[in-house]
Amino acid sequence: MRQHVNPLSRNFNEIERVPFLIEMFGDPKLKLHLDIGCASGEFLFDLALVNTSWNYLGIEIREKLVKTAKLKVREGEIKNLYFVFGNAHNILNDVNSQFIIKNLKSISFNFPDPWFKKRHHKRRVIQPEFINILSNSLQKGALIFVKTDVKDLFDYMDWTISSNFNFKTIDKKDFNFIGSFNPNQLKTNREKYVIDNQLNIFERIYIKI
Ligand SMILES: C[S@@+](CC[C@H](N)C(=O)[O-])C[C@H]1O[C@@H](n2cnc3c(N)ncnc32)[C@H](O)[C@@H]1O
Repeated sequence: MRQHVNPLSRNFNEIERVPFLIEMFGDPKLKLHLDIGCASGEFLFDLALVNTSWNYLGIEIREKLVKTAKLKVREGEIKNLYFVFGNAHNILNDVNSQFIIKNLKSISFNFPDPWFKKRHHKRRVIQPEFINILSNSLQKGALIFVKTDVKDLFDYMDWTISSNFNFKTIDKKDFNFIGSFNPNQLKTNREKYVIDNQLNIFERIYIKI
């Protein structure tokens, strides 16, 4: 399977209709977390099974992974987990999906594709326009979690989010994970790999003010 998908490809211009919260989850009133670039969704399965007072939504651009994840949700009759296929920008930019952003308590970007070459930077998932969309519709107090093992990408993402005056950084040591979408600080697959290989992790938490 191809590992890197060009998110700017025209294949992703058409997006699937994002169902209403009531169609996605057993209890649509639970707190909602969104993981962007969730790959096969294993991290979200781990979270959803343990934290039953949260709903988890994953967006992933590799269709096959989303199909398999959706099947697993159905087979496991998991009511607090849902996956959407497509380019997160196009999905969240759509007027019909604004309700998702408005209902979010938090979003995570875990180890997004780095797109090292400068001419490919526009393929990176965090872009100023995308952060503007989030900043316009997120509720005050909503959180963005960013993690990567690529310092250059971290600096780029940090600069992009910090340049938006609606977001402020929270120091990780002052952050109480217990009330968050990830109280047990579970790790994604990439994070486990990075830890096993003793690579650096660069991370930051932002709050909408
Ligand atoms: C390096 S993987 C990290 C996967 C997972 N978050 C982890 O930490 O193990 C990045 C994932 O983001 C997905 N992705 C990249 N750009 C995306 C976009 N614009 N919208 C949705 N998913 C995207 C990729 O297909 C890939 O599965």
